[in-house]
Amino acid sequence: MSPPIDVGTLLEDERTAADRAETSEEIKQVAASATGKKSRLAQASRQLASLEPDERRAVGQQLHQARRQIEELLERRRNEIGAAELEHELVEDSADLSEFIPGSLRAPRALGHLHLVTLTRRVLEDVFVGMGFEVAEGPEIETDWYNFGALNIPPAHPARTMYDTFYLDLGDPETTLLRTHTSPVQIHLMEEAVLDGSLPIHAVMPGRCYRRDAPDARHLPVFHQIEGLVVDAGITFADLAGTIETFTTAYFGPAIHSRLRPAYFPFTEPSAEFEVTCTICLGEGCRTCSQTGWIELGGCGMVDPAVFGAVGIDTDHWSGFAFGFGIDRCAQMRHNVADVRSFVENDIRFLGQF
Ligand code: PHE
Repeated sequence: MSPPIDVGTLLEDERTAADRAETSEEIKQVAASATGKKSRLAQASRQLASLEPDERRAVGQQLHQARRQIEELLERRRNEIGAAELEHELVEDSADLSEFIPGSLRAPRALGHLHLVTLTRRVLEDVFVGMGFEVAEGPEIETDWYNFGALNIPPAHPARTMYDTFYLDLGDPETTLLRTHTSPVQIHLMEEAVLDGSLPIHAVMPGRCYRRDAPDARHLPVFHQIEGLVVDAGITFADLAGTIETFTTAYFGPAIHSRLRPAYFPFTEPSAEFEVTCTICLGEGCRTCSQTGWIELGGCGMVDPAVFGAVGIDTDHWSGFAFGFGIDRCAQMRHNVADVRSFVENDIRFLGQF
C-alpha cells in the first residue's frame, strides 16, 4: 500500500513554494502551509489511523522522513532569506563617510584646549606649589570610614545631612560611597605619613566630588574641590589665616582679600568659613554677593584632635590646619560665569573663550 499522498510530488511542491518565498514573512507562511495543522502532510498523517498496523508503520516512516526533508529545505531557505535581509539592511544603513570637500585640508583647523575647570585646577596647584605645598590625590570611591568616620562624623551624626551622599551598591548598605568632599584624602595622607614616619605634611589635594544636589546656577552634583592640609610643629590659626590670604591675592589679584567667619565642621576646631571680596562689585555690594561685598569660597579650621586620634598622630608634637574649597566656584568667580552649568553643557562657543 502506498501512502495516501505521493511523497515525491509533495516534496517537489514544497521545495518550489519555499524557493519562491522572498521575505521572512513569506517563508513563515510557506512553513505554516507545508507543516501546519491544515497541511497535506498533516492530513496524510491523520489518515494513518485507518491503515492496517504493518502498513501504518511503513507509511508512517515515509511521512516522517518527508516531514524531516521539508523542515530541512524550509530551514535552508530561511537562512538564505535571513542573510539576504541582513545584507540589505547593512547596505541601507551604512553611511558614506568619504565625502571630500575640495580645499578643506588647507583650511585652518581649530585646535581644542583643556577645559576651564582643568585649567583652573592647574593654576590653583601652581599657586600652592609656589607657596611650598605638594600636590596629592586620593580615590573618588571611598568607604564610610574615610569620608565620614575618621573625620569625626560617626554614623547618624547630624553633620551627615550637610553631605547628600551617593552610596554604591557594594558591600553592606551605606558602606561604600562617592566621596562628598576631598577631606578623606587628608586621612589617607596622614595615615601614610604615620606609617612611613614622614611627617610633617604640607599638601593640597584637588579632585572630583559628588553630592546628590539638583543642578542650579551655583551647584553641580559632580564638582571639584581642592583640599589643603598642613601638619607640623607649632602650627596656629594665624598660619591658616595667612595662607588663605596669600592664596587669595595670588589667585584673584591684589584687589581681592579674604576674611574668616566662625563656622562648624566636625573635623576642625575651631572652624571657619572663608570668604573673598566679591569679584563682581569689588566689595561695593551687589546682587551676586547679596549686598555683603563678600562671597563664600570654602571651609577651614584647625585639625580636630579627634581626627589626629583616628590616624594616630600625637597632638603633643603636632598641630595642623585644613581647608577645602570649590575649584568650579573659583573659576566661576574669576571669569564672571553666571551659571556653573555652562561648564558641563559642552557648548563650544562658551568653552572656546578660555
Ligand atoms: N570638607 C568641607 C566641605 O566640603 C570643607 C572643609 C575642608 C572644611 C577642610 C574644613 C576643613 O564642606
